[in-house]
Amino acid sequence: MLTEQVAIITGAGRGIGRVIALSLADAGGNVLVNDVDEESARVVAAEIEENGPEALAVGGSVVNEAEVEQMVQSALDKWGRVDILVNNAGITQDSLLVRMAEDQWDAVLAVNLKGAFLCTKAVARPMMKARRGRIINIASVVGLIGNPGQANYSASKGGLIALTKSTARELAGRDITCNAVAPGFIATAMTQQLPEEAREKLLSQVPLGRAGRPEDVATAVLFLAGPEAAYITGQVINIDGGMVM
Ligand code: NAI
Repeated sequence: MLTEQVAIITGAGRGIGRVIALSLADAGGNVLVNDVDEESARVVAAEIEENGPEALAVGGSVVNEAEVEQMVQSALDKWGRVDILVNNAGITQDSLLVRMAEDQWDAVLAVNLKGAFLCTKAVARPMMKARRGRIINIASVVGLIGNPGQANYSASKGGLIALTKSTARELAGRDITCNAVAPGFIATAMTQQLPEEAREKLLSQVPLGRAGRPEDVATAVLFLAGPEAAYITGQVINIDGGMVM
């Protein structure tokens, strides 16, 4: 149970982040729901409050340091603590390497990697002071094995895995753990954008023979956020139906 604990989930207005927010709240945690699309964050926060624990919707982009600091301050003002950070906000801008524009590279690296760095930095002080904390980064299996057409995205997720390990080493002395979850092919709006042919090809690489659900990812996040995972840090858990073994 996460009773009394406070979790911040970025990009939680829809998809995997939304389900993570709902499941941490279901376990008793109070949840700050962030999304650059503020209206969607409000809807998710209202959904949580219907069922008990407190929720706070905060709009803002993870790439903007001032907005990130304001987001963390909002949690501290309301609850006086931050126990869990889930760096979930992420985007894709796919293109073959030779056609990839510099701004496609910059945009994806900014949200997926710099965003996680800024949020981690912003929660590090209050967590260090409290001598407790759980940071969970939503990476991707393509950060481990690469993917044609996703040089920017796979580099951002590979970087996020390296950030996870450095953070784990740096904050372990204060009893703060940092782990990553690497989803494979999960049915959300993000993968809905893929052309039918690309989706078929991805599915054919999944030994369990189906796309994952956001709930499959949220289960692992809940485990890493909970007391049973206290001795796990710097790890990557693949949630991919067996794509990468
Ligand atoms: P999604 O596109 O459905 O949701 C992403 C959310 O992040 C959206 O609500 C969006 O508004 C928000 N967001 C985007 N930029 C933001 C910013 N700068 N600041 C704050 N919020 C921002 O995506 P989905 O599928 O739910 O993905 C969630 C995470 O899981 C991402 O990090 C993604 O890379 C990762 N992932 C997803 C996989 C999949 O198959 N769907 C596979 C592997 C990883």
